[in-house]
Amino acid sequence: MIKVKKRKILLLPGDGVGPEVTRAALDVLSVVTERKGYRVFWEQWPIGWAAMVDGGEPLPEETLKACLAVDAVLLGAVGDPRADGLPPSERPVAGLLQLRRHLGCFANLRPVRVSDGLARYSAVKPEQARQTDLMIVRELAGGLYYGEPRGLDEEVGRGWNTLSYERKEIRRIATIAFDLARDRRGKVTSIDKANVLEVSRLWRIVVEEVAREYADVELEHMLVDRAAMEIILCPENFDTVLTDNLFGDILSDAAAMITGSIGMLPSASIGGSNGMYEPVHGSAPDIAGRDEANPLAMILSVGMMLRYSFDLGQADDLIQQAVVKTIETYRTGDIMSEGKTQVGCSEMGEQVLASLEML
Ligand code: IPM
Ligand code: MN
Repeated sequence: MIKVKKRKILLLPGDGVGPEVTRAALDVLSVVTERKGYRVFWEQWPIGWAAMVDGGEPLPEETLKACLAVDAVLLGAVGDPRADGLPPSERPVAGLLQLRRHLGCFANLRPVRVSDGLARYSAVKPEQARQTDLMIVRELAGGLYYGEPRGLDEEVGRGWNTLSYERKEIRRIATIAFDLARDRRGKVTSIDKANVLEVSRLWRIVVEEVAREYADVELEHMLVDRAAMEIILCPENFDTVLTDNLFGDILSDAAAMITGSIGMLPSASIGGSNGMYEPVHGSAPDIAGRDEANPLAMILSVGMMLRYSFDLGQADDLIQQAVVKTIETYRTGDIMSEGKTQVGCSEMGEQVLASLEML
């Protein structure tokens, strides 16, 4: 008898388009894992605005407890315009930031690849888009997002945050980047602002120390302003991009434009007690509830979960192939082009399932 392996995950659909894309991705997860001899059980808990509507916290205790008790967490999106007037620490996104910290996932991997079908609609030249295959390795548990002291004194008219990294924080994220580069094309581009910031000087020193342990991996340093330009000008020259929390946030949205839509970019947050997987896009309140969102970033995030938390790289390959096949014919509005069939979020999910059947 074949032994069925059991895994438990937690779903945090969150806000806006989060629930729609999560639903579409869940079916893909069931089909692929079943094929690989796994049974995935899930629980669902609220986070962000969805948790706040009844007067709760953006990251309720129960949600956090549940997250810590599973193999992996799959998150849709957080954020709601109804919370715009609140201070950052009380907004829906605070729930996400607290969760990342509690899980200890300090490494956020954001792969940027463009399938042939989308290359024509890229913000860069199609030949360049086709050759692009880069991985942003963003530090996720420190830097400006979490640094103390921080504050806002509206009366005095002063706001402040702290950008600080310790050697060990830089070392662990750099090690992840070099390990990944070794299995990729062997090049790390470390991005900082070392011409201005002391913290970037330390970043460079530590990254160079780590680089010495990886004789087979080439290291280059690049200032963040130049990197913002080069990632659009010649994205095909990048392999593994190592950077801090804020720079990684900004550069990954820029890099998303190489794929033509932020609705295509998945992410994996690893290095902690268990992994968390979420699309790079946000809650998109303007199209929420209309079945218009692109679920592919979420579906590809499921693939990353299978690769990094369940060691099922082949299942991730399968999902990626199914996505490529699907967009040959079907497109959501954000990636729609002439001659293709425009579909909504749920139908896109179904079409990915149909493509999977054929693989
Ligand atoms: C991202 C998002 C988040 C971030 C927000 C929602 C807090 O923009 O994952 O890129 O800044 O990390
Ligand atoms: Mn972002």
